[in-house]
Formats: sequence, C-alpha cells, structure tokens
Amino acid sequence: MNVVLIGSGGREHALALALSKSKKLSQLFILPGNPGTKPLGKNVELNVSDYQSILEFCLSQKIDLVVIGPEQPLVDGLADLLRKNDIAVFGPSKEAARIEGEKSFAKNLMNENNIPTARYKIFQLNQKKDLLNYLLEQNYPIVIKADGIAAGKGVVIPEDLETATHTVRNFFDNSIFGPAGEKVVIEEFLTGQEVSLFIITDGDEYVLLPAAQDHKRIGDGDTGKNTGGMGAYAPAPILTPKILDEVKSKIVEPTLEALKKKGAKYNGCLYCGLILTEEGPKVIEFNCRFGDPETQVVLPLLSGDLLELFYSTAVGKISQDSVAYNGGSAVCVVAASEGYPDGYEKGKLITGIENALAQFPQSIIYHAGTKEKEGTLLTNGGRVLGVTSVIKDNDLKQCKQMAYDTLSYISFDGIYYRTDISDKVGK
Ligand code: AMP
Ligand code: GLY
Repeated sequence: MNVVLIGSGGREHALALALSKSKKLSQLFILPGNPGTKPLGKNVELNVSDYQSILEFCLSQKIDLVVIGPEQPLVDGLADLLRKNDIAVFGPSKEAARIEGEKSFAKNLMNENNIPTARYKIFQLNQKKDLLNYLLEQNYPIVIKADGIAAGKGVVIPEDLETATHTVRNFFDNSIFGPAGEKVVIEEFLTGQEVSLFIITDGDEYVLLPAAQDHKRIGDGDTGKNTGGMGAYAPAPILTPKILDEVKSKIVEPTLEALKKKGAKYNGCLYCGLILTEEGPKVIEFNCRFGDPETQVVLPLLSGDLLELFYSTAVGKISQDSVAYNGGSAVCVVAASEGYPDGYEKGKLITGIENALAQFPQSIIYHAGTKEKEGTLLTNGGRVLGVTSVIKDNDLKQCKQMAYDTLSYISFDGIYYRTDISDKVGK
C-alpha cells in the first residue's frame, strides 16, 4: 500500500514509525515530516496548507491511504476533498471534526445526549455585557475557553473575578485569538486526574487504545503555564477496568451514536480527554486527532499492524483485532527549548542521540522541533525531542528511570525538561 502521512511533529514521527513496520506498506510519504521521519519513508517538502497540492500529489503517486495527523487540515475539510476523489482517508470529515474545531458544538452535543461533562454556558461577542454580569455570580476558579482552535492556548482558568473579566476583555476587545475567541464557553472548574483515551472508529464499531496521561504544565508538580504537553506515559492504571466500562457506556458509545445521528459519522481517531471526578468520569475535551505526546507512548505498546487498523477504519470496516496491547509500559519526556511555551531560541546543536540509543536500544527518540543543516541536527521549535523508554514489563517506575537515563546522554544549549513525568501513577 502507498501511504501519505500528513504532519511534522513528534506525533507524526510516532505514527510514521508504527506504519513503517507494516508488512502491507509499499511506500510511505510524510508531508512534510521531520528529520526523525526521514529514515522511515520519504519526506516530501510540500506546503501542507495547500490542500489542492496534497490532492494532486496523492493522485500522481497512486496513494491508497492518507493519514492526517494535525487538527487544522481536518477542521478545514481535507479528508472530504480527498474522499471526493476516491482516496481512502483515516481522519474525520469537516463536519465531524467540529467536535474539536468548535467547542460549543462538542458541548451542545454532550448536553443533548446526557454525556457527562462540565456545566457550561456559551457567549458570543455581542453578549459581552451578559457575560460580564454572569461572571459576577460565579464561583472561582472558572474555566474560559475560546470556541475555535487557538494552538492549544485557548483555555484560561482565572482564579478570581478580576482576572476573569480581564480574560474576557482580552478575548473580545483585544481579539487575542482572533475569530476563534469571538465565542467563548464558560465552564465550571472540575477537579480530578486527567486521562487521554484514543478511540479508533469507523463510526459504527470502535477500538480503544491503552489510556495515557499527559503532563500539560511546564513545571514539575503540574505548575506554571500550559504547554502542548511536556511528557506522557501509558498505560494509565487510574483508568481501571470498572471506570473504563463506565466511559464506554456513558461517553464513547453515546458520542459516536450522537455524531452519526447528526449526519457527522466519525472516521479516524477521536481523542477523548477525560477528568476522573468524584462524581465519575467527565469529558474535558474532544480532539479530532491523536494527542501529542500521548501517541508517542501509546503506539509502541501495540502489537499487530497499525496500517491494517487505519486502512480498515478508513474504508468503513474496522478490523477489531488488527492491533492489541499485551502489556508493557512507555514513558516519554519532552526535551524543550528554554523559554518555551513563551519565546525561545532556535538553531542550537543537538548532541548525544546516537550514544543514548547505543546505551538504550529499546528507547525511542522522537523528533518534534528539529532540523538538519549540513549534516548536523539543530533545534527548531519549542518542543524539540520526545525521549521515550519502552519496556516489556508493566513497571512504570523502571520505565521512568530508563527514560531519564536515556535523556542524560542528550544535550543542547538551553535544554529544559520536567523531572516528574509519570510520578502521578498511583496518586
Ligand atoms: P484543553 O485545551 O481543553 O485541553 O484544556 C487545557 C487544560 O485545561 C486541560 O487539560 C485541563 O487541565 C484544563 N481544563 C479544561 N477544562 C477544565 C475544566 N472544566 N475543569 C478543570 N480544568 C479544565
Ligand atoms: N496532549 C494534548 C493534545 O494533544 O491535545
């Protein structure tokens, strides 16, 4: 099979690695990929927001399957464009991708179908006065979310009325998120541990991958600013079989059914961000794609053929037993550029990857923000590498140790990482 994978982050490196192991694979093209995906297929420099060019590339290369990594092309309708041209796609239609692209769509869908989530209210730009009055009567902290996609930064959790008012002015008057912030969802603040669950579905049947936990804050102990994710581990034992059953019957199945009823049958990976509250599991968010860095720890734990899973899903007949989790653990520690998630410098020399892999051949070093220049590897983003240990045992403590031991061989000027990835286990 000839496959196109779209994207260039650590998540896409993980997807490329898993797809490259398939016996069914003839050629893998990664558009545009990164230095880590180069040995796994063919990186193709193409403007990935030029959807017509992607279509032409797929037709000219006789592509059998397109796997779309990031949310933007999905929200923009790339899957629909390709499907209209008889190309199989793993990834939801524009209509189904609204579940991530418009938070109000997701919240209303859940509300209409009794799917547990935080209580909420939606306000538009012309309702600023009502919103400011509403804030006067709320408990704090409170959660303010931009309705549209805001590069993972659209959620603010003000501790008091003054900060909440300031946030609303930033969204509405200063337009910090542009049109994405001209509608907001105000949510009650929930407490509990968060878990990420990937639902692979053709819209009718589904396969759940092992649950993972992300570490979104920049600092140890979940302190400081929110980031794209500073590390992850899987499986997450906090999602016990009993809670998982509840998640399936109260969240996964009703959500897929509701989307189908709305004429937005889902195809691809539906990322379900859960929070385990005292009242039971509730949905924090849905994403229309795999999570980053959760994918980096979930995929290495699967045996079987990921391409078979993706292709069978794309053509509407998901093969339930194409992949399986047979034990094992993985921990990914993100090595970031000093200053991230705010400003940071690029172009720092990265050393030690070969040494690290010579010492720990089972580890995987995913590239995210890197670039190659004249044979050397340089930093090129906020999140630079995802240093990941994978072991056969169900022993996250040992796995964590191996991830940090691997990381100790790697350096670049200004390297920053959290030291507590996976310490949440058992808490
Ligand atoms: P999101 O961008 O929707 O993933 O939100 C970013 C982070 O904000 C989540 O991972 C949570 O840690 C936090 N968050 C979002 N919604 C809520 C909520 N209703 N209660 C508490 N924390 C929340
Ligand atoms: N790790 C969070 C996300 O991918 O949205």
